[in-house]
Amino acid sequence: MESKIERLIKDFHQAIVKVENSAQLDEVRITYLGKNAELNQVVKEMRNLDENQKRTIGQLVNETRSLMTEKINELATKFNQEKLNAQLAQEKLNVTLPGKNHPFGSWHPLNLVINEIATIFEGLGFQMVNGSEVDTDLFNFQKLNLPEGHPAREMQDTFYLDEQTVLRTHSTNMTAHLLTRLSEQGGDYLAAISYGNVYRRDDDDATHSHQFMQIDGFVVGKDISFANLKWILTYLCQRLFNVDVKVRFRPSYFPFTQPSVEADIACFKCHGQGCELCKQSGWIEVLGAGLIHDEVFQANGLDPQGLSGLAFGIGVERIAMLKFGITNIRDFYENNLQFLNQFKFYGN
Ligand code: DAH
Repeated sequence: MESKIERLIKDFHQAIVKVENSAQLDEVRITYLGKNAELNQVVKEMRNLDENQKRTIGQLVNETRSLMTEKINELATKFNQEKLNAQLAQEKLNVTLPGKNHPFGSWHPLNLVINEIATIFEGLGFQMVNGSEVDTDLFNFQKLNLPEGHPAREMQDTFYLDEQTVLRTHSTNMTAHLLTRLSEQGGDYLAAISYGNVYRRDDDDATHSHQFMQIDGFVVGKDISFANLKWILTYLCQRLFNVDVKVRFRPSYFPFTQPSVEADIACFKCHGQGCELCKQSGWIEVLGAGLIHDEVFQANGLDPQGLSGLAFGIGVERIAMLKFGITNIRDFYENNLQFLNQFKFYGN
């Protein structure tokens, strides 16, 4: 038996030196250590030996197994390392190649202004509501004290889809919707703003377009005064332009407010001296506003007795043009990347 084991060891050594890859190594493993290996045969035959011989042969078998296992594992590690090295050599990164460019987008300047104004009003407790761009004559005009044939319709009167349906001419239509809902729910307080596109015949020059965006807001409640309106709009202008901005309120006319005003800020370019931007007046018009007309409360089912409200409408393009020094309103709509990329890091 000893000689058999010795021969096995010799065979094993002869076989193992010829092994060149892990497939061949597996074959050797199966031959010398697998289920049908000769060494197992020896173990079976040990049954017939006496105790002493059993011990000697048993020890020899164990040593042989360890020797073979060790040699095989050694080679396996070597082959694995070689495989890994080959893989690493093949997958070498060329760090000098130019990387893939992932250009990232940015907010549109109009959205920047909307976000900024929304944040200011959010801080004052206003809710933001969604508005519909297609509306009825009733909500766009009649419920805002603009009955059929009213001369003030002339300024806006524009895209009719059918006799009673219009592309809204101002986002003030949402005031009518929200006041009507407030009356249906029996509420007596609401502060809300909404924004979106409006459409009207209005494209005389580079600062006007037949489609543009507005933000409309109002507060309805008890004892809402003109002082509240002035404070809110002055605060808005200070936040939007600068803390020291001078704001003036000029009497104006809107059918849905009484009294009505337009708010101007002192020209930030010439500081009131008169320049091209402020058309030599020293002042720049920024928005329209007023106290909600009793007729509007009534038309929306609310009793004007004991109820008051303020309202304002802001042209988004106008504010953006002033803030960013843009002179042609069409720049906003042309998707010119050179123009849009200028706003990439604004506010960040
Ligand atoms: N709707 C007006 C317009 O389109 C702007 C406006 C003025 C809205 C006064 C208001 C307001 O809510 O109170 O010119």
